[in-house]
Amino acid sequence: MTLLTFLVDWLRRLSLQFSNSLPRVATYTRELPVSLVRMYENAIDGEHLPWLHKDSFASLTILDKGAWGWRAKGHLQPPSFMTWMELELRLDADNNRWITTTLRGLGKGTQIVTHAVPLGENNIKVVVDFYVPKLPKFLHGLYARQFIDTYSRLYDEDLWMMATRQQELDRMGQGKPKDTAREVSLGTLHSVRRALPLRFELQDRPYRVVDLGGELIAHSTTCPHMLGPLQDANVEQGQVLCPWHGYRFDIRTRECTSGQQCKLAPAPEISVIGKSKEVVAKLP
Ligand code: FES
Ligand SMILES: [Fe+2]
Repeated sequence: MTLLTFLVDWLRRLSLQFSNSLPRVATYTRELPVSLVRMYENAIDGEHLPWLHKDSFASLTILDKGAWGWRAKGHLQPPSFMTWMELELRLDADNNRWITTTLRGLGKGTQIVTHAVPLGENNIKVVVDFYVPKLPKFLHGLYARQFIDTYSRLYDEDLWMMATRQQELDRMGQGKPKDTAREVSLGTLHSVRRALPLRFELQDRPYRVVDLGGELIAHSTTCPHMLGPLQDANVEQGQVLCPWHGYRFDIRTRECTSGQQCKLAPAPEISVIGKSKEVVAKLP
């Protein structure tokens, strides 16, 4: 976001044009290897914007939400009075589409209409049309480039979230674990410490061992909210932060410390055994 973009948008909003037409300035299309269910779930989830899309959204406060969509206010990057906006997304599933409208602030009046066309069970095509009121024709190209660059990046990020969530749901839907062992050896204390934070699986569930004040502790690397990945999350003050919606969890107590009603799944206990100092992860 540059000062020039802000000024151009101000001039557009101030211009005295009384036409009701909403010119389409760009269209972005993309095939995505995800189901329509995952796509709708992503569209009505406004909470992920300032976390998953943190390079685009500096902040976003949800004002209202439901199965219909959401309304929110916040800032694009970088945060300033120039990048403030209020947005609304309305899902129109009967017509396989959702409409995002800028109600106030930067880009006021802009409507982004996304149609999702199912191509297969796990394959859809999105067609995103961008409409900007009162935009002079000679600026359509500039706006089109900005919309398409931004949306390619947003969909890269959304695809990662939707596909990862689907994999996790598939894994959980497989029923009883193939691996029924209740404990696993992680190696010697020396090798484990060198490999920290160390990922491992037990009963087909992913965990990670971290060092908290000299003590080795394991935690689940699946976020209990929407199955987000915690395996690469930094540990700060004994807590992990989920990259999808910013929920924070205390590794020792498993409690959610950002205020939401969820808790990390129980994790194996870590012990160091015998003279050989073998590190073992054991389910309680
Ligand atoms: S999946 Fe939403 S915060 Fe982790
Ligand atoms: Fe998104």
